[in-house]
Amino acid sequence: MMNDLPKFLSTAWEAASAAGEVIRENWKRPRTIEYKGAIDLVTSVDREAERTILDVLQREFPEHGFLSEEAEAIEGRSNEYRWIIDPLDGTTNFAHGYPHMGVSIALEQNGGTILGLVYDPLRRECFRAVAGQGATLNGTPIRTSAINELDKSLLATGFPYDRRDHVDYYLAFFKAFLTRCQGVRRAGSAALDLCYVASGRIDGFWELKLKPWDVAAGALILAEAGGALSDFSGKRFSILGSETLASNGGIHDEMVQVASAVPRSAR
Ligand code: IPD
Ligand code: CA
Ligand code: CA
Repeated sequence: MMNDLPKFLSTAWEAASAAGEVIRENWKRPRTIEYKGAIDLVTSVDREAERTILDVLQREFPEHGFLSEEAEAIEGRSNEYRWIIDPLDGTTNFAHGYPHMGVSIALEQNGGTILGLVYDPLRRECFRAVAGQGATLNGTPIRTSAINELDKSLLATGFPYDRRDHVDYYLAFFKAFLTRCQGVRRAGSAALDLCYVASGRIDGFWELKLKPWDVAAGALILAEAGGALSDFSGKRFSILGSETLASNGGIHDEMVQVASAVPRSAR
């Protein structure tokens, strides 16, 4: 891996910055919106950004596998490497003109994430991590916050697209956390939420039913910045799981206590 790492990194950045350019170019233009579900949107810009990323990565790594939100999954020839891509995390924001979104690109080797990159094209902020080598924001090392009491924390969350069917269950977690911390933000990009925990802008984050492309890059960036990840019961986090609980580490046990106390029966 190490010999190939510089090429993986430069190509991931080439792909993310080109997708960011697509998002910026289209930011002021009218949007073409399609519905994947009642409130689950996709725009022509999601697809154009995805095409741009896949073109760059497949040109350099035709033998790798690819899992990207809006495209058919592609199996790799060797199964050793797989790229996991969310070309536009924050589609609802983009569709409405709310300026908060990210391009998320991760690379797995034999099932473990070795590289994660999340790029906010409007703020031109690039969060990046390599397994075992720490996390950076525009090249400068980042660390999670030092807050170690939930009572003093600022948290973030998001709601899955099936929220109209399970609103009470999702709000039970919201209520439990809202009454224990200093504030809860719902900014609309899970990938950036994880990076914001990684860089100490917020102290913790929880969400249900995220997909691998929402979390693969952000989870590595957070882990490399000293943060903690688990499911709501404190068990091992998986990008394939349905619960994401992420924190600076210092408030993780308290967050697990709060999430675990919400009755699972209402699910
Ligand atoms: C969504 C965003 C949002 C989260 C949703 C995700 P998309 O991704 O990350 O913050 O609450 O669960 O699906 O659809 O904008 O790529
Ligand atoms: Ca997403
Ligand atoms: Ca997306």
